[in-house]
Amino acid sequence: FFAKPWVFVRGVPALKFLPPEGPPEIAFAGRSNVGKSSLINALLGQKGLARTSNTPGRTQELNFFVPDGYGVVEAGLPPIVLVDMPGYGYAKAPKDQVDAWTRLVFDYLRGRPSLKRVFLLIDARHGIKANDEEVMKLLDKAAMSYQIVLTKTDKIKAPAVDKLVVETLERTKKRPAAFPSLIVTSSEKGVGLDDLREAVLTLAE
Ligand code: GTP
Ligand code: MG
Repeated sequence: FFAKPWVFVRGVPALKFLPPEGPPEIAFAGRSNVGKSSLINALLGQKGLARTSNTPGRTQELNFFVPDGYGVVEAGLPPIVLVDMPGYGYAKAPKDQVDAWTRLVFDYLRGRPSLKRVFLLIDARHGIKANDEEVMKLLDKAAMSYQIVLTKTDKIKAPAVDKLVVETLERTKKRPAAFPSLIVTSSEKGVGLDDLREAVLTLAE
């Protein structure tokens, strides 16, 4: 189904607007501007499907994407749903709005039975930050399986990427819900997209 175009089906501004529990969902989570929306576009080979921006705080709702044809009820349920999330941490928006997004993200991550995997995106230039630790703690507590995805690796040199991979694995290996491996990506250069697709495929019904 990566051969098909994918479509945007729903933007969820608050938990009460979530679709009913159903097919497996995979969420792209991470700090503002880490490259969540760009990675979804790169993965699906569709520039502009998920909206991206230089300014942190671009994605403001939980955005649901499905393979084309499944956007209508008659077609049945999609085998998999990708969810682009608002970022946590810094965003160019009023504090109460940022707080509301953060609550939405945290509540969805810890309490959604259909959610089968979280890709936790980490900017290769910054590594794991305090608020990423907070999210990992929440996911561990909820026993919600997550895999670290390093983003924007085109922005640092190859040896620095290798070093970061080792450091990151060291920091996550004792975490109960963390995947034992991570995925190195660059949306810009198309790095790691096959690994990511493979991970998605293993979860599709
Ligand atoms: P929010 O929705 O605001 O939380 O951001 P996001 O995590 O969805 O990030 P987005 O995909 O909008 O990308 C943020 C910026 O990073 C954009 O200017 C992208 O062009 C840039 N960017 C994303 N991925 C990469 C990458 O792999 N390499 C480089 N060099 N830039 C990237
Ligand atoms: Mg975004």
